Amino acid sequence: MTANAVELTPEELEAGLDAEQLRRLVGLVEHDAAGDPFPVIAQDAIVFVVGNATQAAQFYQAVFGMELVAYSGPETGRRDRKAFVLRSGSCRFVIKGGVSPDSPLLDHHRRHGDGVVDLALEVPDVDKCIAHARATGATVLEEPNDVTDEHGTVRRAAIATYGETRHTLVDRSRYHGPYLPGFVTAQTRVQRPEGHPKRLFQALDHAVGNVELGKMDEWVGFYNRVMGFENMAEFVGDDIATEYSALMSKVVASGNHRVKFPLNEPAIAKKKSQIDEYLEFYGGPGCQHLALATNDILTTVDILRSNGVEFLNTPDSYYDDPLLRERIGKVRVPVEELKKRGILVDRDEDGYLLQIFTKPQGDRPTVFFEFIERHGSLGFGKGNFKALFESLEREQDKRGNL
Ligand SMILES: [Fe+2]
Repeated sequence: MTANAVELTPEELEAGLDAEQLRRLVGLVEHDAAGDPFPVIAQDAIVFVVGNATQAAQFYQAVFGMELVAYSGPETGRRDRKAFVLRSGSCRFVIKGGVSPDSPLLDHHRRHGDGVVDLALEVPDVDKCIAHARATGATVLEEPNDVTDEHGTVRRAAIATYGETRHTLVDRSRYHGPYLPGFVTAQTRVQRPEGHPKRLFQALDHAVGNVELGKMDEWVGFYNRVMGFENMAEFVGDDIATEYSALMSKVVASGNHRVKFPLNEPAIAKKKSQIDEYLEFYGGPGCQHLALATNDILTTVDILRSNGVEFLNTPDSYYDDPLLRERIGKVRVPVEELKKRGILVDRDEDGYLLQIFTKPQGDRPTVFFEFIERHGSLGFGKGNFKALFESLEREQDKRGNL
């Protein structure tokens, strides 16, 4: 271990992860935070606004196997909204919905449908981050402030990112409550079926943003300049083009790669791309998918499917293609097992990854999930993009939006 070795967050320790597992799960690298103008510890939470938080929270417990850990709402003095905090390993979701008819959350939901409003980040020094963000041209939505209850004090602030999405910055080093001041401890009532693993995913791997045509480089520049994120990988043009649809994608990551944000924009093609469809139905830029890291994708997918989750279909031709076996080499499971479940494989110089994508989880064709099992690869499934998008387009066509 060197001085720059990966330090685990309390959430990761509590989730039973060690540095080696994390490195494997989400492709963590060592990083010296001392020279970082905007040090980021980890993703703090993914905050959703949905049409019915009570039912969505139950969905994420019953179907995604998440654990309810905290709650705030009318019963705890917040008359205008409900918020449920769910955990799976080190990954934290917060599901919010409006209660009183004049709640601004309902206006947000009217515009965007179910979606992600906040990619909150845990940082060691909120004031330092905000000073740097302001100096580099970010919009500060919430000035640094202390929030306190009987469990301690959280210092927080927020900056704007694409669309109506924000990054709340949280320093929780002086806080010991279940989430944030104002939240009370809550417990899952959903029983885990016998024989099921403790959790179906252990960490968040990446959170993808869709932005308008021509805006991707602007947002890559924002993350480089404001948050000191580095460019990880780059997919342009033909990499992600099918006959009808195309997109461009670049990935930015925090110094230790614990936080990874791919950014997509539509590219010109014969027909409307999946990014255009998202932008139309979300009503602008926003978070497209969340990739959840699992150490056993076969079991995870089997359980999710038995819980009713629908995944994108992968054509048999993907698995029967002799070039596939040549491209992916030796992987830990027989290709037949992957084919049975529609799991995709990709390999790069560092290793390989297994991945699968759900269909959109709300009513609008917008937000969906990816499940990913990494074996050394630090990539995002570049080799699968074409196979995947052809499958996506068949779904888009069924909805009459191609
Ligand atoms: Fe992804």
